[in-house]
Amino acid sequence: MSNTQASLYERLGGQSGIAAIVEDIWANHTSNPVVKQRYIDSDPENVKRLVREMFCAGTGGPETYTGRDMLSAHRGMNINDQEFNSVIDDVLDAMTKNDAGQQEKDEVLAILYSLKGEIVHV
Ligand code: HEM
Repeated sequence: MSNTQASLYERLGGQSGIAAIVEDIWANHTSNPVVKQRYIDSDPENVKRLVREMFCAGTGGPETYTGRDMLSAHRGMNINDQEFNSVIDDVLDAMTKNDAGQQEKDEVLAILYSLKGEIVHV
């Protein structure tokens, strides 16, 4: 693989492509019976902004993530494996809806899975 390959950020359509994915992630989370209760008190615009920032920064974009680290954000919630897997499915489904490729979904899956220890049962 060449090191001149486009970044994951670029392959997902940059800021606007990722913003569209994040809209669908939020729609999926808030209609997913496994996790929707978790977001009942959340400010949608604020959570979507932070997830957009993190998604962009974490895939090679120039944006700065201004939210908390994953451990601080999820500590004390007692999130379980089923919820974690369900949130990942919501993300991959949102990417499919926005025509992301399998390679890009695999890369995002690897990034999300690497964060598991900072999110589940912390
Ligand atoms: C790899 C998976 C995940 C990522 C990348 C992620 C990312 C984030 C980010 C960026 C925030 C905002 C941080 C901040 O408030 O400063 C957040 C908050 C939150 N996350 Fe996650 N999260 C993940 C998994 C989960 C899971 C499995 C649940 C539970 C079902 C969950 C529930 C929440 C809730 C309830 C908030 C707080 C929202 C609020 O402040 O209103 N997250 N997450």
